[in-house]
Amino acid sequence: MRCFYVAGVVIITVWLVSVSDASAGAMMGGMMDNGKMCGMMGKAPTRGIAPKDLPNPDSKSATTFARICSRCHALPSPKRHTADRWKELVERMERQMRGEGRMGMGMMGGMMGRRMKAMSPQEKEMIIQYLQSNGLRPLDKSSVADMDHPGYVEFKEFCSQCHDLPDPSIHTSREWPQVVEEMVGQMKEASLKTPDAYEEKVLLEFLKGAVRD
Ligand code: HEC
Ligand code: HEC
Repeated sequence: MRCFYVAGVVIITVWLVSVSDASAGAMMGGMMDNGKMCGMMGKAPTRGIAPKDLPNPDSKSATTFARICSRCHALPSPKRHTADRWKELVERMERQMRGEGRMGMGMMGGMMGRRMKAMSPQEKEMIIQYLQSNGLRPLDKSSVADMDHPGYVEFKEFCSQCHDLPDPSIHTSREWPQVVEEMVGQMKEASLKTPDAYEEKVLLEFLKGAVRD
């Protein structure tokens, strides 16, 4: 994906130089938000999962998912999103495959996206079902005993930046510290807001307290 962004920077630069229109400049300003030129676009997965580590790795749905969804970036773990999110995401990826990208700007979209054979309707359905049945288990808000717990506030703020809030019972209280550490690493990598030491401590207290083990 690095090549993709580098190519994007070159194309945008050439485009900017050739278009001396104030509105184009203003729009680019928006895209350069936080000094990152990809503010308008989501980020493609950089660290992925090995196909052999997928659930039911030899099933037709796992191999179809692995083949189609690793064409442009690392193969994302099915646990990256909850079932609700996967459907819309696969639909967005279908547009990426058709070269429409998210730029939605005709020529630019065509250049930034990659034209390739899209999924067949059967492949698409199989992938959505596979991802949904192996996705991240979402938090059931009605199970939260103390909505005012300071750690719940931090959990909502930091842990919904990339995926929906996960169900605390996915992990035991012994496992959570390492998972949270990994997630904070992901936040740093994505240049997102990270919790400070106090916020991380209460967040962990909330997760551990929400698990009955
Ligand atoms: C044509 C290239 C291409 C293919 C094939 C592709 N993607 Fe992507 N993917 C991208 C690009 C570009 C981005 C970053 C922009 C965006 O998020 O729309 C991305 C981002 C992502 C992200 C991170 C964004 C987020 O919101 O979490 C996930 C997850 C993802 N793709 C999953 C998939 C899945 C699942 C498939 C297979 C159905 C797939 N991709 C196939 C190009 C592709
Ligand atoms: C920077 C984006 C990002 C943020 C913010 C984030 N996650 Fe994740 N999360 C991921 C990705 C990517 C995955 C997919 C699995 C992987 O790559 O590790 C994931 C998967 C998970 C999983 C399922 C995998 C596992 O190890 O059980 C849990 C649970 C989880 N996240 C919890 C959290 C919690 C708790 C927070 C807040 C402290 C959080 N996430 C914040 C990116 C993020």
